Amino acid sequence: LLGNMNIKDNELYIGEISCKYLAEKYDTPLFIIDEDDFRKKANKYLNNFSSKNIETRVIYASKAMLNIYMAKVIKEENLFIDVVSGGELYTVLKANFPKDKIYFHGNNKLKKELKLAIENNIGTIVIDNKDEIRRLKELLEDTEKKQKVLLRVNPGIDAHTHEYIKTTKLDSKFGESIFDENIYSIVKEIVDCENLIFEGFHCHIGSQIFEKESFFKEAETMMEFTKKINEKLNIKVKELNLGGGFGVYYTEEDKPFKLEKFLKEFISKIEKLDKKFDLNLKRVDIEPGRSLISNSGSTLYRIGGIKETYGGKDYIFVDGGMTDNPRPALYQAKYEAIIANKANNKNTNNYTIAGKCCESGDILIENCPLPKAEENDLLLISSTGAYTYSMSSNYNRIEKPAMVFINKDKVKLAVRRQTYEDIIREDVDVE
Ligand code: LLP
Repeated sequence: LLGNMNIKDNELYIGEISCKYLAEKYDTPLFIIDEDDFRKKANKYLNNFSSKNIETRVIYASKAMLNIYMAKVIKEENLFIDVVSGGELYTVLKANFPKDKIYFHGNNKLKKELKLAIENNIGTIVIDNKDEIRRLKELLEDTEKKQKVLLRVNPGIDAHTHEYIKTTKLDSKFGESIFDENIYSIVKEIVDCENLIFEGFHCHIGSQIFEKESFFKEAETMMEFTKKINEKLNIKVKELNLGGGFGVYYTEEDKPFKLEKFLKEFISKIEKLDKKFDLNLKRVDIEPGRSLISNSGSTLYRIGGIKETYGGKDYIFVDGGMTDNPRPALYQAKYEAIIANKANNKNTNNYTIAGKCCESGDILIENCPLPKAEENDLLLISSTGAYTYSMSSNYNRIEKPAMVFINKDKVKLAVRRQTYEDIIREDVDVE
């Protein structure tokens, strides 16, 4: 049981709200966010990643999960926010997110996206590559504006994670390599540009990483590199953004480090390295997505068919699947589940949880220990807060689920369920 989950009379509750009530009131599948748990997590970050000498920023990577209400919660918790597309930017602007607290990422920001960012005076644009410097310059030259920027670099740290979510191999599509001699001229081009205010560097070594050492190595490599830049170009880099990627618990196979302890160690390491390399940094940022929201989210499904196959596998069919959570199909991601209305029953069976899509790969969990399941039971899959709703699709023209936020005894509907009308909304009635 994660966060504020608890059991009363064999029923699973999140805070003071039962899953049974949620399913009846909002229908299933349903994304449930434990808002109280999330806010506590945000505070843990702010309290532990802090320093007397260096300003620290915690930037929520909104690609993990975003909607207007989520952006409001992030704003209230005094986090900064990272967006990676015009759509994410538009969403946070609509939520009246403080513009100076927005970081804009992406390896191929479109002109219209950069324009939207510039028109709205957003805080920081993270330049991905040399080509983008030119594009940004051209857009800014037509205005009187000066734009704060970071340059994304690739420090070549090989962190152990799934190949698809690893970002710093030497041939990664993100950032410019710190090992490339051209890096000095690239930084110089930014520094010399009238319309750009060079704040410093960004890097991100991958996602779902469990080795603290990878992050310490990242900090050291980046700071050593920063020293070289300072010396060669005779400048003083102000800001380092060390990205996100802190691993979380999905199943017993995952052994995440203790967050408070890690954050304290991380910032003290950074302070020491700042002295060692004589950098005098003004600002250090981290950019977590998954580790902020994943454990605070879960998905509630209703069980339909139960099928014992000739081959011996017992299936539970749920009313969602790879459309609301493509992670198992994409990354062989693993999850745990509980039957919410039989929360105290013993796990006597071993089921494969399958979705309703016309695709054999639409399996949410293999070998899931559960009590005997029946039609209409409620199945809750935990730790689905990150990269599920944000990666959901309308494959098979299935409607996207609703999302509620729970704060102790209060429930707020933050995203309504799609309807069949929504499904045909973009279809043009061609004569
Ligand atoms: N900053 C940058 C520049 C990133 O590219 C990412 C994630 C983050 C921060 C946040 O990383 P986190 O703390 O969430 O690990 N869809 C994949 C994960 C892709 C991560 C992409 N970048 C998944 O479901 O596992």
